[in-house]
Amino acid sequence: MNKYRFFEDKFGEATPQTLASLLEAEDFSSVYAYADNINRSVHGDIVDIRAIIEFSNHCRRRCAYCGLNSINTKVRRYRMSPEEIVETALLARDAGYKTVVLQSGEDLYYTKEIIADIITSIKARSDIKITLSCGERSLEELSLWKSRGADRYLLKHETCDPSLYAGLHSCGTLVERLSCLRTIKDLDYETGSGFMIGLPNQTSQIIARDILLLKDLGCDMAGIGPFIPHPETALKGAEPGSTELTKRSVALTRLLLPHANLPATTSLGVLDSNEKRSIFDCGANVIMRKVTPSNYVRLYEIYPGDIKVLDVYAERRELEHMLVSLGKIPR
Ligand code: 5AD
Repeated sequence: MNKYRFFEDKFGEATPQTLASLLEAEDFSSVYAYADNINRSVHGDIVDIRAIIEFSNHCRRRCAYCGLNSINTKVRRYRMSPEEIVETALLARDAGYKTVVLQSGEDLYYTKEIIADIITSIKARSDIKITLSCGERSLEELSLWKSRGADRYLLKHETCDPSLYAGLHSCGTLVERLSCLRTIKDLDYETGSGFMIGLPNQTSQIIARDILLLKDLGCDMAGIGPFIPHPETALKGAEPGSTELTKRSVALTRLLLPHANLPATTSLGVLDSNEKRSIFDCGANVIMRKVTPSNYVRLYEIYPGDIKVLDVYAERRELEHMLVSLGKIPR
């Protein structure tokens, strides 16, 4: 008898209730095994490594959990020039990366044309894939960037619960966020969303609905990471999210979205550096590495963490060794 039959039946019609009860189950080991099995059958042992360039820490938003919120006056703000961004992307390509993620706070200094020209310059000089992650932007902007060759767009929905969302985001609504995500999908970007685990007042039912929302949006990528309190935010006194609950959520997402790219999020590694290893046995198949120039990297503090400054080549080699030691094939 197929030992995964129970799950196959369950996931045919997964509901918030079935997912929430699994998230709370005493023993989750058979779900991990099933998620690992699905991951290996679709992605083999390959782990894709992405380079991330955090090109600006200016942000017009005031998200209650994020250290880059616009009312944090303690952070020294920076912007990389378009030339610096392009050069850093080419350095990442030379070091072996096949994808570069261009991430920033929601910073309208970078206009439609500036970002479009950055994409054009990178694509003219390399065949590296470009993922954009620069917040909610207009249809006009998103469609120009797609036409210039941007491949993917990341915009996490953060939480699917309308009242939780409203309490955390004094700028912007959940409806606007989801509408932007649907526009990104309609423009044919490989679309990434995601959410945090352990936000104050979040329940297993809400997480279950977050997971189902990823499926509903048709996500090609999903980043799920534990919330980490930042001292310069409204949530500075809150408890950090659970790493176990994060891994369970990744595993369930793998079952619902077998083909999606699921990163081992950096925040999981911040809470427990061993988690980043075991997350690859729970369904994750991607990892990101910062290639942000060393003079800026410590200023991009979304949540507190220990940021090492290593040479881009050395860092990539170290990560490849770590993945090989786990029986994975870095790509
Ligand atoms: N803890 C964990 N993750 C966070 N993010 C922002 N602030 C925090 C925090 N305090 C995540 C959000 C955002 C991504 C860039 O980082 O999900 O989309």
